[in-house]
Amino acid sequence: MQIGFAGTGRMGSAMVRRLIDSGHTLTVWNRSAEKLAPLAEAGAKIAATPKALAEGSEAIITMLSNAEAIERLFGGADGFLAGNVKGKLFIEMSTVRPETEVALDAKVKAAGAALVECPVGGTTGPAREGKLFGFAGGAEADVARALPVLQQLCRRVEHVGKVGAGASMKLAINLPLMIYWQALGEALSLVEPLGLDQARVMDILADTSGGPNMLKNRAPAIAKVLKGEDIGPPTMDVNLMCKDMRAMIAEAQSLGRQLPVTASALAVFDKAATQGMGESDAIKLPGYWLSQPKG
Ligand SMILES: NC(=O)c1ccc[n+]([C@@H]2O[C@H](COP(=O)([O-])OP(=O)(O)OC[C@H]3O[C@@H](n4cnc5c(N)ncnc54)[C@H](OP(=O)(O)O)[C@@H]3O)[C@@H](O)[C@H]2O)c1
Repeated sequence: MQIGFAGTGRMGSAMVRRLIDSGHTLTVWNRSAEKLAPLAEAGAKIAATPKALAEGSEAIITMLSNAEAIERLFGGADGFLAGNVKGKLFIEMSTVRPETEVALDAKVKAAGAALVECPVGGTTGPAREGKLFGFAGGAEADVARALPVLQQLCRRVEHVGKVGAGASMKLAINLPLMIYWQALGEALSLVEPLGLDQARVMDILADTSGGPNMLKNRAPAIAKVLKGEDIGPPTMDVNLMCKDMRAMIAEAQSLGRQLPVTASALAVFDKAATQGMGESDAIKLPGYWLSQPKG
């Protein structure tokens, strides 16, 4: 299958590399051209526009920041839907609100193509290794078409309903994890006076029922960050997290629900972003909380 991939940021680049390693021929497009050169070196072809990318591909994967980016790629004058896309399959993997995917589905269908959404759990490491968790939404037959590609990227794909359902599930799985960064900062503030080695504290927290799955892999990296050691470039930054949390709150409101704990955590992270942490890895948020003036 000829695969096109648009949105080669942190996640997209890792996913493109994974698909190339799995034997696929890929054509790629990204708004910022400098992110394409390393992928071209790895064997990807480069398309001049999203329209050209879609015209030359049978399946087109998108991994973008937000709804505006999706609108730009699908609806722009040189966007996917500006060309003939009859019979093509779009696999939209960004984390956005369900309503964004539902509105996109109508436009894609009107153009004679099919849409499957499949936002994912897992960060750049799992993306590189094909170990993401995909939450697919779409018609049964379309998801079946997308599955061979999705299975190269994901250790598990759950088809959770029609288009929009995957987005709901993705927001739901992210919510406890996002709040956890603040919960961890608050937990650490209770044991800070003990003066224990951070690696030991994180090891203890990771071995208890209160520790999320994520700690099993990331506790050592969190300890390093708490000690002020470098862990390389960010995999998930604070701005992206705040975007996801805003989507969760808006989605809950549309369902007549409130998310008071999410809203409180978001207020802390928004403040961190305004204090220069927007592009820092979310893993730094517990340390940010500990660095706040006492009182
Ligand atoms: N990072 C993670 O651990 C993680 C895990 C699971 C899911 N996600 C989700 O995956 C998506 C991508 O995340 P990421 O970490 O890869 O972010 P990223 O590195 O910031 O990449 C975002 C991509 O979207 C493109 N983009 C943004 N605005 C655009 C616009 N207006 N027009 C065209 N392209 C635009 C960017 O292009 P440029 O290169 O030109 O900026 C880039 O290719 C997000 O929805 C995120 O919530 C992330």
